[in-house]
Amino acid sequence: MDKPGLLIVDDESEIREQLRCALDDDYTIHAVGTTREALAYLKRDRPPLVTLDLGLPPHPDDATEGLALLESILSVDRLTKVVVLTGNSERANALSAIQRGAYDYMNKPVHLETLKLILQRAAYVHQLEQENRRLQQQGIQDGFQGIIGTSGLMDRLFDTIRRVAASDLAVLVVGESGTGKELVARAIHTQSVRKDGPFVAINCGAIPETLLESELFGHEKGSFTGAHVQRKGRIEMAQGGTLFLDEIGELPLSLQVKLLRFLQEQKIERVGGRESIPLDSRVVAATNANLTEALEHGTFRKDLFYRLSVVQIQVPPLRERDEDAVYLAQTFLSRYRDQLNARVTALSDEAREAIRTYHWPGNVRELENRIKRAVVMAHGTTLQPGDLELSAAPAPGPYLTLREARSQFEKNLIRQALARTNGNVTRAAEELGISRQALHESMHKYGLDKSKGIAELQ
Ligand SMILES: Nc1ncnc2c1ncn2[C@@H]1O[C@H](COP(=O)(O)OP(=O)(O)OP(=O)(O)O)[C@@H](O)[C@H]1O
Ligand SMILES: [Mg+2]
Repeated sequence: MDKPGLLIVDDESEIREQLRCALDDDYTIHAVGTTREALAYLKRDRPPLVTLDLGLPPHPDDATEGLALLESILSVDRLTKVVVLTGNSERANALSAIQRGAYDYMNKPVHLETLKLILQRAAYVHQLEQENRRLQQQGIQDGFQGIIGTSGLMDRLFDTIRRVAASDLAVLVVGESGTGKELVARAIHTQSVRKDGPFVAINCGAIPETLLESELFGHEKGSFTGAHVQRKGRIEMAQGGTLFLDEIGELPLSLQVKLLRFLQEQKIERVGGRESIPLDSRVVAATNANLTEALEHGTFRKDLFYRLSVVQIQVPPLRERDEDAVYLAQTFLSRYRDQLNARVTALSDEAREAIRTYHWPGNVRELENRIKRAVVMAHGTTLQPGDLELSAAPAPGPYLTLREARSQFEKNLIRQALARTNGNVTRAAEELGISRQALHESMHKYGLDKSKGIAELQ
C-alpha cells in the first residue's frame, strides 16, 4: 500500500530533518518552513497529515501565523489531520489550536515514539472519514431511496412503498408539508417496473388555472391565442413512466372532470385537438390539505378521489418519528459540513434535546433548513440550540413530585393528540381513550384550547 502523505511545517531546518529521519519509513514526506510553501503544497497534493509548528515567520515568537495557517489548511480540506507542535509553555495556544479543529498537539521537544503513535491513529481516522465521505457522496445512507429514517413508523412506510410499487395501482400520498411526500412518490417510481420510464411531476397548486389545462393535457397549434406550436402536456410526457400530481387538492373542478376521464379511459385529447391519444402511465398524487373537507364541501369530486386513492399512504409528521429528528439532524449536519467545508462537527447535548422536543411544524424541510443555516452561521464547532434558532429545552426539574410529573405527562399527551388531529376534540379523545367531556375538562385544567394545543407546540 502507498505510504500516507505527511507535510512537515517548521521554520527550524534541524527539526524538519529530525522528523523526516524518524518518519521517512512510514510516510511520504514533504517538509517546508513557511506558510506560503505550505499552502502551495497543500493545494497541489492534499496530504492527509500535517505536523505544524505554531511559531512561524514573520511571527516566530507567537502563534498567530501558525493558527492562521491551521485555519487555511482546514479550509482547503476539513478532513486533514493537523498535529500541532508547541513549546512547553504554550498550553493556551495548543488548546486554541484544538478548538480551531487541530487533531492533536504535542509539546516540544517532540517525543518521537509518541508522535509516531499519534500520526498512526490520525492516518487511520482520516482513512475512515474519507471512506465515509465517499459513501455519503454516493448517497448510501440508512433509510430507503434517499428517505432517511430508522423509526418503526418509517420502516413501515418503506415496507408499504415496496409493496405498492410492485403493483400498478393509483396512490394518494397524504401528509403535512415537508414530510417527504415527493420523495415517497419518487421511491414508488424507482421501485416499480416503470423505473426506466420518466418520472414527471406537476404541482397543481403552483400553476395558474388558465395555464394548467394545457400544461397537463398539452395543446394543438392554434388552439388558443399564443399557441404557436403543438405541445405535449405533462400527462403525455409521463408515457411509460409515473405521473406525479402534487397538491392535487388545488386542482380546479373543471380539470377534475378531465383528469377523471383520463384515469378511466387511459386516453387524453390535447386542448384544441380531436385525436384521442392512448396513454400508459402510473399516477401518484399527493396532498397536504384535508381532502375530506373538500369532499364534504363539494370542491373535490368524490369519484376522482376514489380513483386516485386506491391506495393511500400516510407520511407521518416528524414529531411522531421517535429519534428520527436527531438522526436526520446529524445526517444533514455531515452532509452540509462536507458540502460547505464548514468546521461544525457535532450537535451539543442541548441541541439534541431541543430537536427532540420541538414540534417541527415544517417537518423535515424545516429541520434541513435550520441545520443548513446553522452550519453556515455557527461560531463554534458544536451546534447549540441558539444556532438552530431553537430555545433550549427546559431542564427537567430534579425535584418534580409524582403528581407534577403526571400532570406534565398528561398535558403533553393531550397537546400532541390535539396537534395530530388538527384540534379535532372528538378524534383526539378517541385516540386518548377518554370521553369528549373528560378531554374538555382536562384541556380546561391545563389551559389548552383547541387551536392553542397546536400553536403552543409550534
Ligand atoms: N426522510 C427524509 N430524508 C431525507 N430528506 C428528506 C426526508 N423527508 C423530506 N426530506 C427533504 O425535505 C424536503 C421536503 O420534502 P418533500 O418535498 O418530499 O416534502 P413534501 O411532503 O412534498 O412537502 P410539501 O407538502 O410542502 O410539498 C426535501 O428537500 C426532501 O429532500
Ligand atoms: Mg411536495
